[in-house]
Amino acid sequence: MHAEGKIRVGILGAGAWADSAHIPGWNRDPRCEVVVVCDVDKTRAQLMASKHGVSEWSGDWQSVISRTDIDVIDIVTPSSTHLELASAAIEAGKHVLCEKPVAFDFTQTRRVAGEARQKGLKTKLGFTFRYTPGAQYAKSLIDDGFIGRPFIFNGFEQNSQWLDPNVPLRQVQPQQDQSVIQTASLLEYGAPIIDIGHWWVGADYGRVVGMMRNFITHRPIRGSAEILRMNIDDGDMFMGEHTNDVMSSIQTSFVTVGNYPGIEARIYGEKGAIICRMVEEFGVAETIKIAKPDSVEFQQIEIPQLFYPHGGHPGESWRSLFYANLIKDFIDEITSGSETNQGDFEDGAWVQEVINAVELSVKQRAWVDLPLA
Ligand SMILES: NC(=O)c1ccc[n+]([C@@H]2O[C@H](COP(=O)([O-])OP(=O)(O)OC[C@H]3O[C@@H](n4cnc5c(N)ncnc54)[C@H](O)[C@@H]3O)[C@@H](O)[C@H]2O)c1
Repeated sequence: MHAEGKIRVGILGAGAWADSAHIPGWNRDPRCEVVVVCDVDKTRAQLMASKHGVSEWSGDWQSVISRTDIDVIDIVTPSSTHLELASAAIEAGKHVLCEKPVAFDFTQTRRVAGEARQKGLKTKLGFTFRYTPGAQYAKSLIDDGFIGRPFIFNGFEQNSQWLDPNVPLRQVQPQQDQSVIQTASLLEYGAPIIDIGHWWVGADYGRVVGMMRNFITHRPIRGSAEILRMNIDDGDMFMGEHTNDVMSSIQTSFVTVGNYPGIEARIYGEKGAIICRMVEEFGVAETIKIAKPDSVEFQQIEIPQLFYPHGGHPGESWRSLFYANLIKDFIDEITSGSETNQGDFEDGAWVQEVINAVELSVKQRAWVDLPLA
């Protein structure tokens, strides 16, 4: 924290998600200041900085991370770079917000989480949907005993972003053996809804069993006209048993008809049920419905204003609305002086461990016990 008491932030990655979610989130909170935007493509960094009123830009992430006048490094770069950048930022003593996943192997994420904890640094994963006003309100209802003992959780994260086979995909490894299905939707779309299930149910998984399918078999890669065979998971399902006896199912896909971001979380307990639908439809970012044993028809309820970020309302774009809450929460945690740190790299490591267990289950066509380590 510096002269005027503001938290100073350096952004790594000047792409689409930095533009629509991250930078607007930081700019909305008067307790912080984005001091530099950095991208390996320096022109992109400059354009993004001037668009969002940031006075400095850079093409060199190492020099940004090593600055002593920056408190937080925000990593919004492609997934393959996250581990290197997050490790370097923690090594340099910065709090880190990082898009998911930190690493494809959960043990590497856990190692970085441990390093941050040892240095007294806060971390946060880009689990966007844990911070929606509806998901936060649902969690407060669960904590207040609205559903009583939980029985079943169902989570969906699906939309039709890549239903059209002509839409190029970014996450592709053409050199990969095409006879083996490669994890795609479960990694990109599964992580946030697995995180919400863990958080609402309040217990780890004891074991999981899953399936993956490749529905659209040929696609172009981004930046190329070539059409390739891509044996990727574009639809998957898994079931899990939690250690507190709750049963869960998770379904993700990016070729299922429906709008962004396409999340639905349902929890059923002995005293009530909650369905939170985080799907932008007819100008509304999300809805929440509840039912009780003596009034079984689900009713939509209003989300109290206290769960919205400053100036937020249900008609705002989900991209800026949900992320503003995530960033507000991170600033609260950094400034609080307490140990509180929700959705941190440790949670990220757990989610990645579940994804790795489902991958193993698909390969072995069998139940897989957790923890894996
Ligand atoms: N949490 C969510 O809901 C959500 C939504 C969308 C995207 N994402 C994630 O956000 C990340 C970025 O996605 P995007 O759509 O903005 O991608 P993008 O390709 O539009 O932008 C990424 C930028 O990072 C830059 N970059 C690459 N390596 C760098 C480095 N070492 N230092 C600085 N800049 C570097 C690239 O040049 C590019 O401009 C991805 O991990 C993606 O999965 C998360």
